[in-house]
Formats: sequence, structure tokens, C-alpha cells
Amino acid sequence: MLGTLIINQKIEPFKKIIKVDGDKSLSIRWVLLASQALGNSKAYNLLMSEDVSAALEAIKKLGIKVKINKGNCQIFGNGINGFNYKSGLVVDAKNSGTLGRLILGLLIRSPKRIKVIGDKSLSKRDFSRVVIPLEKFGAKFYYKTKNKLPLSVIGSQSPKGINYIENKGSAQCKSSVMLAALNSTGTTFIKAKKSRNHSELLFKYLKIPIKIKKNKKYDFINIKKPKKINAFNYQVPGDISSSAFFMVLTMLTNNSELLIKNVNINPSRIGVITILKKMGAKISLKNTRNYRGEKISDIKIKTSKNLRGINCPSGLNSSAIDEFLIIFLAAAKAKGISSFRDISELNQKESPRLNWGSKILNMMGVKTELTKGSIKIYGQPNLEITKPIVIKNYLKDHRVFMMSTIAALTCGGKWKIYDKDSINTSFPSFLKIIKNLNNKAI
Ligand code: S3P
Repeated sequence: MLGTLIINQKIEPFKKIIKVDGDKSLSIRWVLLASQALGNSKAYNLLMSEDVSAALEAIKKLGIKVKINKGNCQIFGNGINGFNYKSGLVVDAKNSGTLGRLILGLLIRSPKRIKVIGDKSLSKRDFSRVVIPLEKFGAKFYYKTKNKLPLSVIGSQSPKGINYIENKGSAQCKSSVMLAALNSTGTTFIKAKKSRNHSELLFKYLKIPIKIKKNKKYDFINIKKPKKINAFNYQVPGDISSSAFFMVLTMLTNNSELLIKNVNINPSRIGVITILKKMGAKISLKNTRNYRGEKISDIKIKTSKNLRGINCPSGLNSSAIDEFLIIFLAAAKAKGISSFRDISELNQKESPRLNWGSKILNMMGVKTELTKGSIKIYGQPNLEITKPIVIKNYLKDHRVFMMSTIAALTCGGKWKIYDKDSINTSFPSFLKIIKNLNNKAI
């Protein structure tokens, strides 16, 4: 689905029930952990996107059997550190920071040299954030360009547990070290600023020896090497990051209502709901239940007139980290000034997202004040765009594409948005779902 999306009209009102694609973080974690389990693991509703396919391809190259069936995916793991491959192997993480960073954690005891590469966007991103702690386990890393992909890794014969302080609120860094702990003697101790805790919940479910203490800002995690990991089946819930685009679409469309079924609402991921509700959004959770430590819910959204600007508490940043672009769009249509601070991490994503968010709002005629780590947005509740807008050269960042699409469908104007295929990294059904909302706009 290469190409360009043209949108010349707003979306018609809708009342619908939808499902979004499976959660990306959980899908990649299932692939990587199933590759370390012994025997046949099966996942249902696994996200079938480029990031997850890259994870499946990577473990296949590392000697793990993978079978994709209709409706499920099977992985036949060889146990912890059971990879089997020839020295000099090249693994391609494509666009996925999560895959690139987490898989390195699994390679710290692999004695044969492996090269990890990525696409243009991933090759611009910082890898020192995982290489520095992983070196402490004894693995050796070789860069061509410092801190960037491509890089090569040679594992240590006898990795030992480390003490590590994760200060960015990065679940990728925390999880990479957690995976390395599976291969290390002694205890790995992590003091981690709050971030999504899917890895911790999966470790607990898999009976990997893990202890967690918490205070307001940090989690203190102790991990010991398990004897083995048993194969496990998993039903992947819908992705809240994908749902967020449809929340704001519904809020900003007249006379509309949407029920998104079966979404993961892990408390470490629901910053978007908290922030939008503080702004006056009509969002409620129905039928909340537990699944293997994760919380799942149906999310109901209604047209939300009278949105208010927000002075966003930075304590919510980590739990909304992937949703800021779409939150910025809501702020652009809210009454008053919104301000978001301590969000420089946004510029470390698939594209410099903080800069792109500001740039797109400016193209829409919305005033912003941008610094390295903050943005102020001057909301215009009656914003109607009439001029043409072209979005291109954004490093094919899926979330820039989706935010632009929702802006076009809710604010009017004539939009030409390049690199439609970027949605395939995280949310392949994005445009199909919009079409099914009774819409002639795309
Ligand atoms: C992810 C963690 C976050 C997030 C990314 C997925 C994960 O990245 O932005 O989309 O699955 O662990 P950081 O760890 O860099 O914050």
C-alpha cells in the first residue's frame, strides 16, 4: 500500500463498534519470550505488522521454527539461549526500536558475532542507551557510527547480573536488560523510572524469578535466571496506541459515538485517556477484566464539544509517550493554551515527533511555542482549514501519518499525506477501519 493519501473532506458522523489491531509491545514481547521458551507457544490476535514480522524473521534467522496459521502464530522455542546460527548473521530490525533494542538483550550470551541493522529511521536512533548497560553483562559491541545501527554484538561466555539505573522512563531499555538477566548468573537489579510494565507482567506469568518494589517515581526490580521458561499461549489484546487515533477522531466529529472492543488498558499505558478526560473528553471504560496481569476493557467515546486546554502533568508523560501527537491535535481544537513539558524523548522516536507535531499544527494555522523539551499549543475550538496541506519527508513515521489523517478528517482542508504504507509498521487496518465508519472522505 505504497503511496499518497488525499483527503478533501471531513468524515461524516458515525456510530459504530470497532476492533483495533493487536498490541505492538505485547506482540513483540510474546515473540521474543516464546523464542526462549521450551516447546510450542501459540499467540492469537498477534499484530501482523511489519515490526512484528521483523521480530518473527529475526528469530527464524536465529534458528527458531515459526509457523503462521490462519488465526494464530506458533513458535517452537529451543529454551533460553537456544539460538542456532552461523557467525556473521545479519538481523534486520527494520523500523522497530523495540525489536532492535530488546533483541540485543537476548544476545548477550551468544558467542557468535551478529550484526543488527535497521531502516533509515531506526539507523538515526540512539542505541547507546541499551549498549551501555548490556556491555556491563560482558557482551562486546562494535559500531560503524558511534551509538547507531548497524552494530555487531559478540556475547560473553558467562554474563553476570548487573545493577542498572534506568532514568529515561524507557520500557525498551528496562526490558532489554530484563531479557539479558535471563542469561546471567546472580541477580540483576534494576531501578527504573516508571514505564510500561508488560515485560514484568509476562515474567511473573511465566514464573521467572522476579521481585518488584515500587515507590512513586521508581520501580525496583530483582531478577534471577530461571531454570527454564515453559511454552505459553497468549491472546493479544487491542493496542491502546492505535485506539487513541479513533478516540480523538470520535471526540472531534459531530454526533458520533464509538465503542472500541477489547483494548489493553494497562495503567502504565492509559495516560492518553487521563489527559483527554482532563481536557473534557467523553470517554468511559466498559466491561473491564484481567488477563494474565493485564487489564482489558471496551472503550466508549462520544463527540466531545467544549474541550479545554491542559497544563499536562509531566508525571503522565511515560504512560502517554506514543500518543502525544494525537493529544496535540485535541489540544489544537481545545479552548485555551495547552502546555506539555519534559517531553524531549518524543524527538527520539521513529521521527523527531515533537518537532513534527509542532510543524503540522503550524501548517494547520495553529500557533505553537516549541523548545527542545516542551510545547505550548494555542487552541482554536472553531478551527476550520481551507488551504492545501502537504505532509512529507517525515521518515515514514506511522504516527505522523495517522495524526495527519485524523487532522484532515476533523479539521477540513485539502490534504496530501505521503507514505501511506507507514501504517504497516503498527496498524495495518487503520485506513480500512476509517472506510468502514461510513465515510466517503477517503
Ligand atoms: C515501547 C516503549 C516505548 C514506546 C515504543 C514501545 C516498548 O519506547 O515509545 O513505541 O514496547 O517497550 P521507549 O522505551 O523508548 O520509551
